[in-house]
Amino acid sequence: MSILVTGGAGFIGSNFVLDWFAQSQETVINLDNLTYAGNLANLSGLKDNPGHVFIRGDIGDVALIASLLEKYRPRAILNFAAESHVDRSIHGPEDFIQTNIVGTFHLLEATRAYWSALTEVEKAAFRFLHVSTDEVYGSLEKDAPAFNEEHRYEPNSPYSASKAASDHLVRAYHHTYGLPVLTTNCSNNYGPYHFPEKLIPLIIHNALSGRALPIYGDGQQIRDWLYVKDHCSAIRRVLEDGRLGETYNVGGWNEKANLEVVHTLCDILDELQPRSDGQLYKTQITYVKDRPGHDRRYAIDASKLERELGWKPAETFETGIRKTVQWYLDHHDWVASVTSGNYRNWVEQQYT
Ligand code: NAD
Ligand code: TYD
Repeated sequence: MSILVTGGAGFIGSNFVLDWFAQSQETVINLDNLTYAGNLANLSGLKDNPGHVFIRGDIGDVALIASLLEKYRPRAILNFAAESHVDRSIHGPEDFIQTNIVGTFHLLEATRAYWSALTEVEKAAFRFLHVSTDEVYGSLEKDAPAFNEEHRYEPNSPYSASKAASDHLVRAYHHTYGLPVLTTNCSNNYGPYHFPEKLIPLIIHNALSGRALPIYGDGQQIRDWLYVKDHCSAIRRVLEDGRLGETYNVGGWNEKANLEVVHTLCDILDELQPRSDGQLYKTQITYVKDRPGHDRRYAIDASKLERELGWKPAETFETGIRKTVQWYLDHHDWVASVTSGNYRNWVEQQYT
């Protein structure tokens, strides 16, 4: 038995693959084309594990996908592969359209061809799980209830619009062709192997390197934070017992304003690795120009997942964020390896 994971060298995908092998012997075919966000160092702990088969390739390459499906005959496909950073989607949407929409379409086509040729028993057992985001629902007013699965799609950035389009394609393949799909829409993740272009790892990295801590606009935008390993456990539960064609919102009821998150990170760093000059890290906070079209608030209502599948997050924001800061303090080499080269060009383009 095996599963095919796409995007398994990225932040969430690599955490998922590592967690998978912590609980299972089942082979993982890991397909990732190693964009700037994909990093094989995330998976170095699996280099002696014959159950982990890494293949460099694109989800849009139908011939490659078809040959992998034929060779490994997975019982499930989990689609993590995507362009995932909102700011990059504002600077250049094209890659987002290509991977998130066209790539998902090609992956669905290859999957449909494979699935159609399975025996009835294999067909019934097969799953295509699409990993998506709460950003497809758009922005919430301050006191509005959290997003549930019935909330209307109102994506506001090229990133969220491309994810919304991919969700619709996945849904259509279920309704039209009967493909056994599942979709998860998760809130903002944080934890190990998070690329330091996103808020939490960027702030930790900049704080420790004596750089400015950039806050977009007034810093009062709200995100709903979930420790990445809790997202992984939710995906495993949905894969096991999710109802076909359903979507499940995933979140940990941890709404925080950005400024509060940054203050928390500064406080933990002051405690675990104080600045050598005795100053507090928060003196590095700098307000910068707001993101165009910046969504004000996201919040996830995960009660369907809790009620139907008994899932609950293991970490609170307080425990998860402390683990995360400690992980970055313990993994200077990883941070150094991902913040060279292209990363510098991105930071220059975005923040100067
Ligand atoms: P990431 O950018 O860290 O990783 C994406 C991975 O996909 C990288 O390894 C990259 O090399 C690979 N990839 C990109 N294009 C590809 C292609 N065409 N073919 C094959 N591989 C390709 O992203 P992430 O944060 O790990 O997000 C994973 C998934 O989870 C995405 O679908 C994202 O939309 C979704 N998601 C992310 C968050 C979050 O907070 N990060 C929250 C909810 C949902
Ligand atoms: P990010 O981590 O990019 O995730 P997303 O945009 O998908 O929610 O950003 C989280 C929040 O932090 C978002 O409101 C934008 C804000 N932000 C900053 O204030 N400064 C930064 O340098 C970055 C990268 C993000």
